[in-house]
Amino acid sequence: MNSLEGKVVLVTGAASGIGQATAATVREAGGIVAAADISTIDNLGPSDVAYALDVSNAEQTESVVAQIASHFGRIDGAATCAGVTAVGSVTQFTLEDWSRALAINLTGTMLTCRTVLPHMLAAGHGSIVAVSSIYGMSGGPGNTPYNVSKGGILQLVRSMAADYGPAGIRVNAVSPGYIETPMTHMLAHAGAVREAFIAMHLLRRPGKPMEVGQVIRFLLSDDSSFVTGANIPVDGGFSAAQVIQA
Ligand SMILES: NC(=O)c1ccc[n+]([C@@H]2O[C@H](COP(=O)([O-])OP(=O)(O)OC[C@H]3O[C@@H](n4cnc5c(N)ncnc54)[C@H](O)[C@@H]3O)[C@@H](O)[C@H]2O)c1
Repeated sequence: MNSLEGKVVLVTGAASGIGQATAATVREAGGIVAAADISTIDNLGPSDVAYALDVSNAEQTESVVAQIASHFGRIDGAATCAGVTAVGSVTQFTLEDWSRALAINLTGTMLTCRTVLPHMLAAGHGSIVAVSSIYGMSGGPGNTPYNVSKGGILQLVRSMAADYGPAGIRVNAVSPGYIETPMTHMLAHAGAVREAFIAMHLLRRPGKPMEVGQVIRFLLSDDSSFVTGANIPVDGGFSAAQVIQA
């Protein structure tokens, strides 16, 4: 099931959280991970290779993808997990906050896709999975730059699915709810706020990074061979219902 035997998958944001878990699921399915991150990456498999990469830097992205193609001779899949939070409403955040969120989350995702696509097009196959968020699907207070960047990822995914589907390339998104990772560490001690957030998830618990990684693995594998342009919420039901708290 969800086999990736012998396939080479670029995972950005592979040093931590959802990206690290995704790398592990790819490896478990027999795939080889080209792991990229701006931070140091541990826990590589025997055939994996780590690359230092700032996904918002176009030249670095081109250089790293060229190195991956040269080393492995193929790039079958890409999971774009690199991302940052960005808080504030329009009257609060700085232009720098806004630009950074869009540069890393949205432009970074686009640059990774744009750079791996020629290799996939040459091979006639490929699967890309981008990580959006529940806040790419709906609004949410106090995180406007983040929400906009994640909404943009969903439109990017649909647009690329339309452009490259005829060439056999699939492009999909996952939209996680509250997943316990270093990114959401500040919620661990947020008491009632954390409990209220958890209550908005129908399964009444946060998710684990591996629970997102498993869905990404499915979308990367041929088990999802007729799925493209889709967005799969991995959110314990957050987006399925409006929970009324008494
Ligand atoms: N944790 C959640 O609840 C949650 C919910 C929805 C969406 N997401 C998304 O999932 C993705 C992974 O988040 P996470 O929770 O695992 O967070 P995380 O902080 O654990 O991991 C993010 C990784 O991205 C890397 N990164 C940051 N900026 C980078 C850059 N410029 N270039 C390359 N790498 C960079 C970090 O070094 C880190 O390893 C993010 O896109 C995030 O927005 C997370």
